[in-house]
Order: sequence, then C-alpha cells, then structure tokens
Amino acid sequence: MTKANRKSAKLQLIYPGKTEEKKILRKKAAGKITPAVRKKNTLSDSFFSGDNFPVLQHLVPLLEGKVDLIYIDPPFGTGKDFHDIDNDTAYSDKLTDAAFLEFLRVRLILLRECLSPGGSICLHIDKKAGHYVKLIMDEVFGQRNFLNDITRVKCNPKNFARNAYGNYSDMILFYAKKRDRNIFNETGDMLTKKEEESFFRKIHPVHGRYTTNPLHAPGETANGDTGRKWKGLLPPKGRHWRYSRKELDRLDKAGLIEWSDSNNPRKIVFAKGHKGKKVQDVWEFKDKGLSFSDYPTQKNHELLKRIILHSTNPGSLVLDAFAGSGGTLLVAHQLGRHFIGIDASKKSQAVVRKTLKEGKVPCSFYKHIGG
Ligand SMILES: C[S@@+](CC[C@H](N)C(=O)[O-])C[C@H]1O[C@@H](n2cnc3c(N)ncnc32)[C@H](O)[C@@H]1O
Repeated sequence: MTKANRKSAKLQLIYPGKTEEKKILRKKAAGKITPAVRKKNTLSDSFFSGDNFPVLQHLVPLLEGKVDLIYIDPPFGTGKDFHDIDNDTAYSDKLTDAAFLEFLRVRLILLRECLSPGGSICLHIDKKAGHYVKLIMDEVFGQRNFLNDITRVKCNPKNFARNAYGNYSDMILFYAKKRDRNIFNETGDMLTKKEEESFFRKIHPVHGRYTTNPLHAPGETANGDTGRKWKGLLPPKGRHWRYSRKELDRLDKAGLIEWSDSNNPRKIVFAKGHKGKKVQDVWEFKDKGLSFSDYPTQKNHELLKRIILHSTNPGSLVLDAFAGSGGTLLVAHQLGRHFIGIDASKKSQAVVRKTLKEGKVPCSFYKHIGG
C-alpha cells in the first residue's frame, strides 16, 4: 500500500449482499404513491403507509436537501415480532445480522439525500446492534460528520438473570449532513436545587443566590484597552480584562462587581439568570410501559422534544421513516415544525391517525401500492 493510499483508505464493514451505493441511488422507484404526491404537499405535514424504501425512492426527488432533522427508531434486528397490548402483531423485526444491516444501510443512503445543508440525523438503536450500525453510519454520512453517541437511560434498573451487568440504556447516534454547519440550538439543562446551592453559595439581599467569576481571562493584550490599568489595577500577569474598561465601570456602577478585602474585583453572577448546563451525552428519558402506550416500543415524547428543539428551527421539516405511534410527528407539530412520517405497519397507521386526530394535527395521508 502506498503512503497516499494508506492515508485515504476508508474503514468499511464487509458483509455478504452489500449493494453498491450508486446502484441504490439509481434504482427505479417501485410501485406508486396514491393519491399522487405534488411537490407542494410533500413539504407540508404528511404520513405515508408502506415500506419506506420505495416510499423514499419516490420522495427523494421532492425532498432532496429539504429535511432539517431525521429521527429514526428502526427495528433493532432482534429476530422478534412486537405485539400491542391485545397481543396483536404491530410489526415484525425478523431480519438479523447482515440482512438487517443492509436493510438499514440502503434506507440511510436515501435518507441522507433528503437532508438539508444544516440537517442532521438521530438514529435510535440498542447496544447489541448499535456498534455495527455506527460503522454503517460512518460509511454513509462520513466519519467526520459523527457528532455524538448518546446513552439514553430507557427504564428503571432491572435484575437480569445472567452473569453480566444490568442493561438499562440504549443509544442515539447523531450525525450532521455537514459537521459544524448543522442547526444546533443550545437549550440548557436546568440546574437541580442541590446544584444551584452548590454553584451559587452566596446570598444577595435583593436578587438571591449568586457566585462570582474572575474579571480577567488568559492571554495578554499588547496595547489594547483590556491590558491597561483599571481603578489602579493591572490584570494579573499573562491575563487581560474580560471587558473593556468602560464596561467594567458600568458593571461596577450597577453593583455587579464584588470587591474582596484584598481589593480583588470579581463579577457577580446570579442563579436566577443562569441559562442551564450544556446538555451532555447521557440522557434519562424513560419510556412508558406497553400498558401506558398506544404502540410497542413507543418513545418518550420529552426525548423527542429535546432532539427536535436542538436540531431544528420553527418551520423546519422533520422526517421519521419508522414512525410507529407517530410521536415524532405530533411533537414536531406541537413545536411549530412540519413533519413527514412513514411506516409499513397497519397498526402504526391506525395509531398515527388516532394520535394526530386527538392532537388536532392536520395531516395528508398517502399509501404506497404495488412494486
Ligand atoms: C421501533 S418501532 C418505532 C417506534 C416509534 N419510534 C414510536 O415512538 O412509536 C419501528 C417501526 O418501524 C416500522 N418499520 C419496520 N420496517 C419498516 C419498513 N420497511 N418501512 C416502514 N416502516 C417500517 C415498524 O412498523 C415499526 O412501527
């Protein structure tokens, strides 16, 4: 192998039956969508009943570059059927191993084509299949566009009868269409009471809990304003004032600077103005049990809310190609986003109709036939 080849060699998962990407993209769409979809309609709120591969083949020309967020929670390659509360089969998850991976990969390739330049995808999967799926997603979306592997605590701890640790989490793989261009709205996690008391130890007579932060930051400014004396003080060696001297005067006048006994000024930061902690990559959003849900494997709506708020803007288009109960569609609508849902299960179609009707969510329903 030459040096250049070594550098550019792409990591790939090899398994039997893997189709070339260009063949997948060139393949003619099978069957038809009824009623016929017009471009204008696809961009508003719609649900498609049918296998998402041919449905996406039909939709890619209309959706190309338009979807800001894809959330999918596909079957996990468990080899099992999933039943509703009446023990009727809601959907089948019979594909395993290579067949399962290829089923997912061909769909991910079509989904990628739908993403907008600021778009991203969150794929929900368990920890048995997840590490193989990560490699497939690296191939399809590019390793560089991998953003997070989020651990989601899905249930209460259980006592498993096996010689292993408990397993109460699954994973969400988060990729951007283009890293650093993806929509990402920070919504901070609120501090707990305990955290607030520990981070903001002092009490202000009017504004309550507060803490103080240094007024200087690393790095010296050669000739700039932030390197000069303020109130007779120079910033410590190797540091500069965080604010211009005019701003320091303003903060001081407003009572937002605390002076220590040794004449060290620090900025006052109140707990009540805190924007919350940066969301990290371990989340706890437990799902309700089957008896409390409309659909097996139905996901927590607060989880979907977090994902949608972070990765879309009002008016964005959200796509869920394994829509199940339709939770993604409902939450997207409630947050002022548009949605497209796809699912092959008859039970899913019934639950989506019921959920959207109860939520007074307008939606156009389509069906894929033939092929
Ligand atoms: C894990 S469930 C999704 C649950 C959903 N996230 C929720 O909160 O209700 C997976 C879904 O994928 C659907 N599905 C499986 N294969 C499909 C295919 N080829 N095309 C469309 N939907 C499919 C199943 O019918 C099932 O509803």
